[in-house]
Amino acid sequence: MSQQSNQSDELQGKIIAALGTVRYPGFDKDILALDMVEEFTVDGDSIAVVMKRLDADGNVKQQVVDGVVSALKPLGLSAAVTFGGEQKKEPHAHGREQPAPKKPIEGVKHIIPVASGKGGVGKSTASVNLAVALAKKGVKVGLLDLDVYGPSIPTMLGLSGQHAMSKEGKLIPADKFGIKVISIGLMIDKGAPLIWRGPMVARLVKQLFYDVAWGELDYLIMDLPPGTGDVQLSLVQSLPITGALVITTPQDVALRDAEKAVNMFAQTGTTVLGIVENMSYFICPHCKKESHIFGKGGGMKESKRANVPFMGGIPLEGRIVDTGDCGEPIALGDNEIAVIFSGLADKLMQAVGKLPA
Ligand SMILES: Nc1ncnc2c1ncn2[C@@H]1O[C@H](COP(=O)(O)OP(=O)(O)OP(=O)(O)O)[C@@H](O)[C@H]1O
Ligand SMILES: [Mg+2]
Repeated sequence: MSQQSNQSDELQGKIIAALGTVRYPGFDKDILALDMVEEFTVDGDSIAVVMKRLDADGNVKQQVVDGVVSALKPLGLSAAVTFGGEQKKEPHAHGREQPAPKKPIEGVKHIIPVASGKGGVGKSTASVNLAVALAKKGVKVGLLDLDVYGPSIPTMLGLSGQHAMSKEGKLIPADKFGIKVISIGLMIDKGAPLIWRGPMVARLVKQLFYDVAWGELDYLIMDLPPGTGDVQLSLVQSLPITGALVITTPQDVALRDAEKAVNMFAQTGTTVLGIVENMSYFICPHCKKESHIFGKGGGMKESKRANVPFMGGIPLEGRIVDTGDCGEPIALGDNEIAVIFSGLADKLMQAVGKLPA
């Protein structure tokens, strides 16, 4: 971001602080953290704010414009906001233009992100085991590890080494248990710090979307980092998503965060195919009774509130941890958890089949 003219340092500081309070609709982060502000110029009591090009619909843009205008008003500034390459507009001007069309991934029929508001609720576990369950049914499935901050897919699938490049300069996915897999964890040295700033994340994520030789896939499952940050933003802006799965645990905190994730998809016009409740209950290995140690019915409640299907629960089960750690997902085996994931895979395929073409 650059600031022009001879505005005082003090005013500049206040403007930056004010812009830092404008949250991007549906996301945790503000427009500065998401690196959306190109520059601003103050002229008397007017300020022209130039934002980066924004591929969002008019409603989202208008919310950003309104946010900037009202954040700068207390400083006595009347703001005119423009987005990359547009003509200047008067304050409160309405952005009516359509967002740039989303670009599909060549050869990929259905894009299914797996998201959650809160960390550690089991997105990666669910992504890996769903992919395994789909592959076991003979479905052509890919798994894209989009957790660029802490990729766990390589460990969960027992993968190491690095992705090869094709002659055309495309990344070649690893092939494991009948699943095609791409992970940032297989692109960088083990142990290298994963510190990415907003614009780098956007570039990296675009590469992971479009520069991979997937071949033909029925389903591409995407394991997301937790929350509603820049990876999610790039995702909803760039790709025609078939529908997302939101993972939660039954605790209230996780449910509140699940609501944030569901709202983010709703705000960006992305279908949520269903909510999955992980660590839903515990089956006593001795008496085989179910106990709901983290509470009961939370995922169902959120699904009713958001009017999104409830896809089912996955029990808390020690073997899920062990099998994840040793790279042999539990759904590979012949056990009751594998049956649950097979059922979830069926529900996912049904939900996709019901969507209008
Ligand atoms: N149903 C379950 N029963 C027992 N342990 C589980 C279950 N699901 C996940 N776990 C364990 O919980 C931990 C977190 O799971 P996982 O890594 O899948 O979560 P995540 O949502 O992907 O986390 P992050 O937000 O860090 O990416 C892992 O150690 C995993 O083995
Ligand atoms: Mg994860």
